[in-house]
Amino acid sequence: MRDTLLIALPKGRLFDVTLDLFSRAGIETDGSQVASRKLTFPDRQGVYEFVALKPADVPIYVESGAVDAGIVGSDVLHELDCDLYEPLDLRIGACSLVVAAPAGTTLSGQQHLRVATKYPRTAARHFAERNAHAHIVRLEGSVEIAPLLGLADVIVDLVETGRTLKENGLEPLEQVARVSAKLVVNRTAMKTRNAAVRALIASLDSVVYENS
Ligand code: PRP
Repeated sequence: MRDTLLIALPKGRLFDVTLDLFSRAGIETDGSQVASRKLTFPDRQGVYEFVALKPADVPIYVESGAVDAGIVGSDVLHELDCDLYEPLDLRIGACSLVVAAPAGTTLSGQQHLRVATKYPRTAARHFAERNAHAHIVRLEGSVEIAPLLGLADVIVDLVETGRTLKENGLEPLEQVARVSAKLVVNRTAMKTRNAAVRALIASLDSVVYENS
């Protein structure tokens, strides 16, 4: 068994705020190692080893046990539906997953909605719950352009400041889910590495209240 606890971190918008949270919790990393192209780096005390992954890959690594724990947005967790232990809402990366459309659009009366999104399962569930027939167009990013180019009628995407929607002439119509980052832990590691995992949860929990 490894001595260090292996923790997956999401690259992208959550990466810096996650490192900042760890730092406030007393878990420091070396900036030059973080900035290098190497995808793993330790904390200064040698207690943890971090792995920088694409956000959508974090739950997959944690569920499989390839890493012990991870930080990931609830949007990704909701979409992937992995079997993980979720002990802590970190209250960072707060944003909303919304249905949005060109300003002036109304959803009522639209029989056959074309929905562009990076979250096909979440979007399909959302419209199925409303008994709306939706054709899901799965995209990898820059989703806001899809209605403007006629690829879709609406989008399901994250909104943080609202700037991307606004600058592309879109407005939110309804909220699908509130989103924030979670600590997730592999179910076996929760038992076999219990003391180390509990120490991690306690450290992060001690600074989470600062994030509201
Ligand atoms: C995210 C999201 C929106 C945007 C929202 O995209 O998908 O496009 O940020 O942020 P805002 O409300 O503050 O403008 P990201 O930057 O991750 O890039 P992507 O479009 O390539 O997914």
